[in-house]
Amino acid sequence: MPVSQSAIRLTSHLDHDYLRQALEHDVRSGLASTPKSLPPKWFYDAVGSELFSQITRLPEYYPTRRELAILREHAGDIAGRSGADTLVELGSGTSEKTVLLLDALAGAGTLRAYTPVDVDAVTLGDAARRLTARYPGLDVHAVCADFERHLALLPREGRRMVAFLGGTIGNLDPAAREVFLKELRATLGPGDSFLLGADLVKDTGRLVAAYDDAAGVTAAFNRNVLYVINRELNADFDPDSFEHVALYDLRQNWIEMRLRATRAMRVRIGGLDLSVSFTAGEEMRTEISAKFHPEGLHRELVAAGFTPTRHYTDPTGDFSLILSHT
Ligand code: AVJ
Repeated sequence: MPVSQSAIRLTSHLDHDYLRQALEHDVRSGLASTPKSLPPKWFYDAVGSELFSQITRLPEYYPTRRELAILREHAGDIAGRSGADTLVELGSGTSEKTVLLLDALAGAGTLRAYTPVDVDAVTLGDAARRLTARYPGLDVHAVCADFERHLALLPREGRRMVAFLGGTIGNLDPAAREVFLKELRATLGPGDSFLLGADLVKDTGRLVAAYDDAAGVTAAFNRNVLYVINRELNADFDPDSFEHVALYDLRQNWIEMRLRATRAMRVRIGGLDLSVSFTAGEEMRTEISAKFHPEGLHRELVAAGFTPTRHYTDPTGDFSLILSHT
């Protein structure tokens, strides 16, 4: 076998100032809203990413295991149908899933390039190095970007399969989802494909348990956003005075995570020159995680201009992967 040289490139659309401004904006507008809210993307500093990784191993948190099971069963079929030579992964996440797709593309004989896309440069660097070591000759082009802002700037080389896994699409409300899917569709050309992982509607008890685990890991993950704001924006939230709340909204079909103030308090956010009051029992929304019916997802993909070609699920019907073409 010829020895081929691996190349790692890194393109960044997010410098420190950009992230800082985005955080400032999100916190200022979220705390000024009624009810208060914070977007979930700020959970993921080093501690939050580690907590999320622990969540994926909890007995109650089924989505990661189900998605892996689907990929183990169907990655070969997905790779063959996509015909892709370039895997673009939005929110590059755990390498385990990525490796299943890259192995399948390599097995199909088409694999050339991998483009992980993430807001976190450290996560990106790790992914790039790990995968370059595993696949000598793989052309890794890491892109530091926010998938809600920079889709139009993604590299356009190769026949691409964009993977958006883990159910992260559920963090977007229906309006944001529509924008996201349309923007993504607009960046893809003939022959490109889109692999979407989404969590399905199921028994409410199981859904709530997945977001309110007995060991309290999700509660710690939820409170971590307050530590992030304390550190980055010089704030004095007392995270122990907030309770973790997870509930399922049956009308919207989404899990909502909230932080509930256990006492009245005033919080100073020095970096924003702002003080905010919480009443005892006040709840602040920190995440929605939407759950889908397969037909609804299909409809949203078609409305965005995609042609869904295959729908894969696990034997329990808990989670789904949908492969769409342009
Ligand atoms: C990473 C967005 C898919 O919504 O299930 C896990 C995040 N939040 N437990 C999800 C999460 C609480 C997760 N996603």
